[in-house]
Amino acid sequence: MAESFRATHHFITSLLITVAITITTLNSVHSTTTNTEFVKSSCTVTTYPRLCVTSLSTHASLIQTSPKVMAHAALNITLASAKATAVMMVRLSRSNRLKPREVSSMRDCVEELGDTLEELRKSIGEMGRLSGSNYEVYMSDIQTWVSAALTDENTCTEGFEGDEMNGEVKVFVRERILFIAHLTSNALALINHFASIKD
Ligand SMILES: *[C@@H]1O[C@H](CO)[C@@H](O)[C@H](O)[C@H]1NC(C)=O
Repeated sequence: MAESFRATHHFITSLLITVAITITTLNSVHSTTTNTEFVKSSCTVTTYPRLCVTSLSTHASLIQTSPKVMAHAALNITLASAKATAVMMVRLSRSNRLKPREVSSMRDCVEELGDTLEELRKSIGEMGRLSGSNYEVYMSDIQTWVSAALTDENTCTEGFEGDEMNGEVKVFVRERILFIAHLTSNALALINHFASIKD
């Protein structure tokens, strides 16, 4: 009798533990799905939604359902990519296979990328300081700087438009800069979206 009671007790305890674990797991699966869905639906406001989803999905657990964190993460990703591209272009500009005209365009482009980095860094800094009393001013600064970053990226690409430029270098630079410009455009759309829903 005591044996069977113990067995039953043991069985019920195991059952309860299993149920608890299952509920916890389902909850976390549920919130992961919710976070990923939030990223996907927020990306519909951007011009390059597929790039938006691929670049931001890995940050879904951090973003959860916050449009502010999403915009912040988009800026972080853009800054990291722009940095990597600037490093690559500095290295490329030292290559002795380039013509003087290409080297000079490359240097101009690196300078414009430097401005882009500065504008993105300032925006990220103010994004972290946004609060009630300074909200309007900071948000307007951020919108101005991110737009300026986009303009600088376009200026860089224009330097590579001429026919005298080597095809490979031109294609490489244009593709890299276009990628950064698309990330920047998406970040700006997410910032504008966040600004429009905040009352
Ligand atoms: C953005 O980058 C900063 C500095 O690296 C980091 O502290 C912050 O958590 C990041 N924020 C998001 C939302 O990715």
